[in-house]
Amino acid sequence: METRAKREVTALKRVALDNLSGMGTNPSKSAVIGAAPEGAVDSHSAARAVREMFTSIAPRYDLLNHLLSCNVDRLWWRRTARTFAPILARPETQVLDLCCGTGDMAFALLRQAGMARPRILGADFSHAMLERAKSKSAGTPLEWLEADALQLPFPDASLDLVTSAFGFRNLADYDAGLREIFRVLRPNGECGILDFSEPNGLRGKVYRLYFKRVLPAIGTMISGVKGPYAYLPASVERFPQPAEMLERMRVAGFREVSWTPYTFGIAGLYRGQK
Ligand SMILES: C[S@@+](CC[C@H](N)C(=O)[O-])C[C@H]1O[C@@H](n2cnc3c(N)ncnc32)[C@H](O)[C@@H]1O
Repeated sequence: METRAKREVTALKRVALDNLSGMGTNPSKSAVIGAAPEGAVDSHSAARAVREMFTSIAPRYDLLNHLLSCNVDRLWWRRTARTFAPILARPETQVLDLCCGTGDMAFALLRQAGMARPRILGADFSHAMLERAKSKSAGTPLEWLEADALQLPFPDASLDLVTSAFGFRNLADYDAGLREIFRVLRPNGECGILDFSEPNGLRGKVYRLYFKRVLPAIGTMISGVKGPYAYLPASVERFPQPAEMLERMRVAGFREVSWTPYTFGIAGLYRGQK
């Protein structure tokens, strides 16, 4: 019997091939998939809503992150950074942490790099999130940049590693995001996308209960902002399953693609090479 993942991949391959050949059955119908916060009608309004949402929770973002994940987020950033130890050990390496928010993934990369001191930049389109990253990073060589992940201000083939932690899922167009990462990477450069996932079985049931009921209630209470913490479980539900995401990475041009589940598959790291 065909599994759900297999069916999704087959359907996706068909759409991807249609798009690539320009022979879609209905060219006016776009295959764009990406974040869709409530009220967004197209990719522009989706991106604007995402930016406003993160700007509104920036003052409490770190506190809520650590609290709601019981500090497991720190382990995930560290584990991701460790995965890229060989690239980070080269002093000439240029790294971009995309959708860097308040900078914790970039800090983990810097700590992993140790004495090698590669150049590490964090980019985000929320000014308020970057301001917090800047104030946390005083005295470190980390650099911050206000930029849209779908239109990066970097030349083709200029970076060795692009990471993104819990940010990629918020892009208004996942395929455009992957193509942009692929564009800025040098040949053999690597990409690491850390994001949430939905585990199966009993664990999935417990996880969904926490994610859909408990987390939005606590998040709304502490941040004082209604909306973002209901968007979070909805965005994870909408995000492609690992098999589909890996196929999208292949279609964008990546090779050696893989997904490593973290903590029973609550999160996981997608990797790909240019
Ligand atoms: C959940 S936060 C993750 C922050 C950080 N990487 C972490 O691990 O805590 C998502 C971040 O993605 C940023 N973001 C979403 N879409 C973006 C885009 N198109 N361009 C740049 N940043 C974006 C948001 O502003 C937000 O700071």
